[in-house]
Amino acid sequence: MAHLIDGKKWSSVSRAETAVEVRRLLDKDLMPKLVVVLVGDNPASLVYVRGKEKAAAEVGIDSRIDRLPATTSAQELLAHIEQLNQDDSVHGILVQLPLPDHIDEQTVIATISPEKDVDGFHAHNVGALAIGLPGFVPCTPLGVMKLLEYENMDMTGKHAVVIGRSNIVGKPLSQLLLKANATVTVCHSRTKDMASITRQADLLAVAIGKPEFVTGDMVKPGAVVIDVGINRIEGKLVGDVDFASVEPVASAITPVPKGVGPMTIAMLLHNTVLAAAGFEALRS
Ligand code: GUN
Repeated sequence: MAHLIDGKKWSSVSRAETAVEVRRLLDKDLMPKLVVVLVGDNPASLVYVRGKEKAAAEVGIDSRIDRLPATTSAQELLAHIEQLNQDDSVHGILVQLPLPDHIDEQTVIATISPEKDVDGFHAHNVGALAIGLPGFVPCTPLGVMKLLEYENMDMTGKHAVVIGRSNIVGKPLSQLLLKANATVTVCHSRTKDMASITRQADLLAVAIGKPEFVTGDMVKPGAVVIDVGINRIEGKLVGDVDFASVEPVASAITPVPKGVGPMTIAMLLHNTVLAAAGFEALRS
């Protein structure tokens, strides 16, 4: 029986830590504020941004959702972001992805002020992570590292295998694991004989977006398995890991739901407080 890594529990611990920081800033007359920009009416995105708003309120962060119609032009969206950049009462800006097809994501991300980029997607923050400078780290990989920290899992000298090379998860997670002194291998859709690599992993982190892709025969006995996938199949949420066959082989595993997911929102709140604290440091 693998140990279940309880993302819901650890996310409450992290949010309580963030709430303490919020109170410290409030004592200095600074109310941390997050603005989430949602273009169009993708139902899944709407559920996500409402979840972010609710979680922000619970730790005392002021937040707002700016909803723009699907017909918004790229120019209009960029102008909206510029306004938020200029607004000193706004510390964190998050533009919910995906955007409508007619808007180029990278142009939008590049327009967000790096000091307010609580997603950590701006090239400035991506570069900072790559060379070990302070900056915003994307919330999902940061949440994975926080889970490992809370669970006292030291990565030094461990072989960490990451499946997936996205800008949001796979690439930043591999950088963070490297920083934590793991030996890191990144696998992806073109990797040959993936199972021979994943079977060497002490830590296997999966973010490939394919339901139940990793099966028990791909996992080394005693490995720690982190499932970053969220897939909806016939109304049921499943991860990128086939829990039924992997759980008996692993020593610890994150479930889906209530694994990595709750940590992502907790890290967004953490990043928002960091953004506000950064503003506070500049102000004083
Ligand atoms: N859509 C799905 N995940 C994310 C995320 O982490 N940030 C943003 N901005 N949009 C997303």
